[in-house]
Amino acid sequence: MSVSVAVFASGGGSNFQSLLDYETEDCAGRIELLITDRPNIGAIDRADRAGIQSQVIPVKGRSPDAVGLETLELLEKNEIHVILLAGYLRLLPPVIVQAYRRLILNIHPALLPSFGGQGMWGHHVHKAVLAAGVSISGPTIHFVDEEYDTGAILAQWPVPVMAGDTPDTLAARVLKVEHLLYPRAANHLCRAVDRGEAVVPLTLPASAVSFTDPFSVEAVGAEIDAAFTSMAG
Ligand code: GRF
Repeated sequence: MSVSVAVFASGGGSNFQSLLDYETEDCAGRIELLITDRPNIGAIDRADRAGIQSQVIPVKGRSPDAVGLETLELLEKNEIHVILLAGYLRLLPPVIVQAYRRLILNIHPALLPSFGGQGMWGHHVHKAVLAAGVSISGPTIHFVDEEYDTGAILAQWPVPVMAGDTPDTLAARVLKVEHLLYPRAANHLCRAVDRGEAVVPLTLPASAVSFTDPFSVEAVGAEIDAAFTSMAG
């Protein structure tokens, strides 16, 4: 059996693209559907190019119940098992969270539980990281619950904050690691679902931090691969 995946996005969809690009025969999951809350976004173009069906489900001005029931019907019709939020800026309706408990992941561009919550998206996150003066940031993959950014953490990876960073330069560095971490974390969840096993959070190897100096995307990619492979069993 392969695990059917729906991706939710609100914007350009570079993380959606990284999930599409990672898919091979060996992956436990297959992306079958893109759901967005708005038309004319980059993510829809990416779905079209990949031959993935997409559906806009508007949220503005509608009740969470109405949105939730329409979304649930579409997910059930497509026999979706796992949901991946990739830059989806809306809180998921409770009916979806309840139906897919521990089966929905989100990616956040900072190390939760810091720098999360309502309003913490895009450059707001990286501005707050720089204002706090921390030396390490990095993406978090977490399960989705009824609140913003509070669900259990599945994987994180450190990315250095460098002298002279602006929100844009930091965002670009973190985004590169998002593209490496999310597909592998999603595959890790899909494999557990496929096997009917509980998913085990990623153990961050001690070497992950030393790999931030000097920072090299290639080295980080190899490290992330090794960390997930050692957990694959
Ligand atoms: C990413 O930074 C992700 O962490 C956050 O939203 C952004 C989406 O970017 N949740 P993209 O649309 O995937 O390019």
